[in-house]
Amino acid sequence: MRFIQVGVGGFGHVWVRVLKESAAAKVVGLVDVSEAALEKACAAGGYDRAICFASLEEALKKVTADAVVTSTPPAFHKHDVVTALKAGLHVISEKPMSDTMDVCQDMLHAAIRARRTYAVSQNYRYSPPMWTMSHIIRSGTLGAVGQVKLDFFMGVDFGGGFRHEMPFPVIIDMSIHHFDLIRFITGLDAVSVQGGAWNPPWSNYKGDCSSTALFEMNNGARALYNASWCAKGTFCDWNGNWQIECEKGTVIYEKGEIRILHVPELYAWKKTEIVRHLPLKKTAQHHVLDDFIRAVRAGRRPKTDALDNIRSVGMVFATVEAMKTGRRVPVLGARLRTRVKGR
Ligand SMILES: NC(=O)c1ccc[n+]([C@@H]2O[C@H](COP(=O)([O-])OP(=O)(O)OC[C@H]3O[C@@H](n4cnc5c(N)ncnc54)[C@H](O)[C@@H]3O)[C@@H](O)[C@H]2O)c1
Repeated sequence: MRFIQVGVGGFGHVWVRVLKESAAAKVVGLVDVSEAALEKACAAGGYDRAICFASLEEALKKVTADAVVTSTPPAFHKHDVVTALKAGLHVISEKPMSDTMDVCQDMLHAAIRARRTYAVSQNYRYSPPMWTMSHIIRSGTLGAVGQVKLDFFMGVDFGGGFRHEMPFPVIIDMSIHHFDLIRFITGLDAVSVQGGAWNPPWSNYKGDCSSTALFEMNNGARALYNASWCAKGTFCDWNGNWQIECEKGTVIYEKGEIRILHVPELYAWKKTEIVRHLPLKKTAQHHVLDDFIRAVRAGRRPKTDALDNIRSVGMVFATVEAMKTGRRVPVLGARLRTRVKGR
């Protein structure tokens, strides 16, 4: 499959490598507004400068492609995705779909109208521990999920860039991974959210960088999410620390280790089991790309296409709304819920 990659600097270097390493992908165009980023991407991938362009429109005029991967900052995703879809191409975009819910909805509708595949890269699903936890919970051996606690605490200085300028930086740029994981691991969807956000005095982010959110899931369970990028002290890894409590026990994840506390009856703990991670042939972006190419070829939906992802990104923007208003907010509006129901 022939790809144009838009946004090759920053995290885009991961996609330069992943596309290069895929036997099923061929890069026919690289797009970036930065000459230096294009230079570096050409060196990393062994590409000729002739396939470099300053805009997607220019690339589309000069090369023939089947799909676009975009790794520009979130505010540019709509342009890249809609331009590619209108040109008849399939698309993978980096998360989050965009930086407002209205724009995400426009992008979803553009994909439906174009009858092309639009997948969002939710690479956190495809790491052995998250894959394993999803398998444990979805197998049903521990019974129904009743409550989830996910704590994400890190002190991270990106040294400037869009994250330090945007409102609710953790929730809009990072928590999409965690919210998508809550859905992926539990197999549940969020119905509504309440929450609050604040900015500690030492934070070097403009937006509120610490937050707490409480989701009601569609089986009545609650998921409590606490997160900060300006934490001082002990940090978790990028997946966060998890406690998923089910009818017959609890799954705990911390820094790569998964434990099951078997509690088959009421509160009486029976034993603790350390769980070995399930093997995963392709991880992270490699998995996203492989699933995308197979899905396009087979005419099926990729696992994290826009119709699925709107339920995760919907959690993000409902959380933002809850934090702004102090109210309990539905995760998808009634019209959008009807649109995606059963799809
Ligand atoms: N999946 C993950 O684990 C993960 C990790 C980090 C970043 N990301 C995502 O990747 C995306 C990019 O983040 P980043 O940290 O690389 O940002 P960045 O600002 O460091 O880099 C973005 C690149 O896009 C280029 N660019 C900016 N505007 C452009 C435009 N209009 N057209 C073409 N190129 C343009 C920039 O020159 C730069 O090379 C974001 O959506 C971010 O959330 C994902």
